[in-house]
Amino acid sequence: VGAEIGDHAHYLVKEIEEQPRTVERTLRGRLDERFQTAHLGGLNLSIREAREFRRVKILGCGSAAYAGELGAQLIEDLARMPATAESASEFRYRNPVVEPDTLYVAVSQSGETVDTLAAVQELQRKGGRVIGVVNVVGSTIARQCDGGIYIHAGPEMSVAATKSFTSTVVAFALLALHLGRIRDLSPTEGRRIIAGLAALPGQIAEIVEQEKRTGWIAETAAELAQRHSVLFIGRRRGCPVAREGAQKFKEVSYVHAEAYASAELKHGPLALVNPELPTVAVVPDDDLLDKNTSTLAEIRARRGPVVAVAHRELPTDLADRTIVIPRNEPELDSILLSVPLQLLAYHAAVALERDVDRPRNLAKSVTVE
Ligand code: G6P
Repeated sequence: VGAEIGDHAHYLVKEIEEQPRTVERTLRGRLDERFQTAHLGGLNLSIREAREFRRVKILGCGSAAYAGELGAQLIEDLARMPATAESASEFRYRNPVVEPDTLYVAVSQSGETVDTLAAVQELQRKGGRVIGVVNVVGSTIARQCDGGIYIHAGPEMSVAATKSFTSTVVAFALLALHLGRIRDLSPTEGRRIIAGLAALPGQIAEIVEQEKRTGWIAETAAELAQRHSVLFIGRRRGCPVAREGAQKFKEVSYVHAEAYASAELKHGPLALVNPELPTVAVVPDDDLLDKNTSTLAEIRARRGPVVAVAHRELPTDLADRTIVIPRNEPELDSILLSVPLQLLAYHAAVALERDVDRPRNLAKSVTVE
């Protein structure tokens, strides 16, 4: 997980493929099977303090903000605390109301993003308690926060975030488990989440190995790369997965991509669906499967091409291609669903001969306003 590129053609694919190990590093020493909880030594919150917070607000930019959206859902699911995520750059400009019973979480891979840092400082000026979820140890945001979680994903060299994204979501799962277990989450539920987390590295490895054997995602990506635009959709946890997937796709391939919550499709973007506009749909096999398949039927009725990321092959009347991935617990599936979308973006960029690791006009960490 170091900064060497080894035999890989690009850092981006190296960092995608090393996610079994980076997720393992995020988890290392933090799962407590005896008490079915997570240990997070750097949080700097006593159990009593942690119990007093009534809400969680997560702030970050770019992929960090999308990972935060998944983090908010994990906290609501497991700790039953209202949690929301928003872009730090918007937050800092609107004179936010800072509440004493809200736990603020700043997310940043680099720990140097100026908008995120400014949001942290504004919160602290108004008495807010801010913890960080950060990759780079000793970075400015890590030092500015009152405590936090290092994701330990190792140096990320590609401008497009991949391993820091998955490790950040894993860190939020640990935080949600920790907050849940000092509230209402049962030992049985805690055990279920711990088993799910422990299974993630092996399951990510399966996705990577399957692609090396079949080249299915690369083939799909080469087709998508020929289009002018690609729509990404998902519901609930699938929605931030789709947002991150679209962001990755557009930033490295320069093909326009846009993400929508599946149910919002009929409030606008459905007008664009035709045989020229493919949709990449996040379709986990969960309690929303019927809703998701009826969205696909609406797209198909307008002859829109569909690529599905799912837990089993979808019938061809719903999707032209399915990328099948292993199943985890519903709360954690988003981590696995993200990996094929990273590979789609990578292979589309390669097919178009883009500057994969350094997309034009972008910087790895944005330290100026
Ligand atoms: C830049 C990078 C993105 C990253 C964002 C936030 O825009 O290109 O990949 O997600 O900054 O960076 P941070 O280091 O704060 O996570």
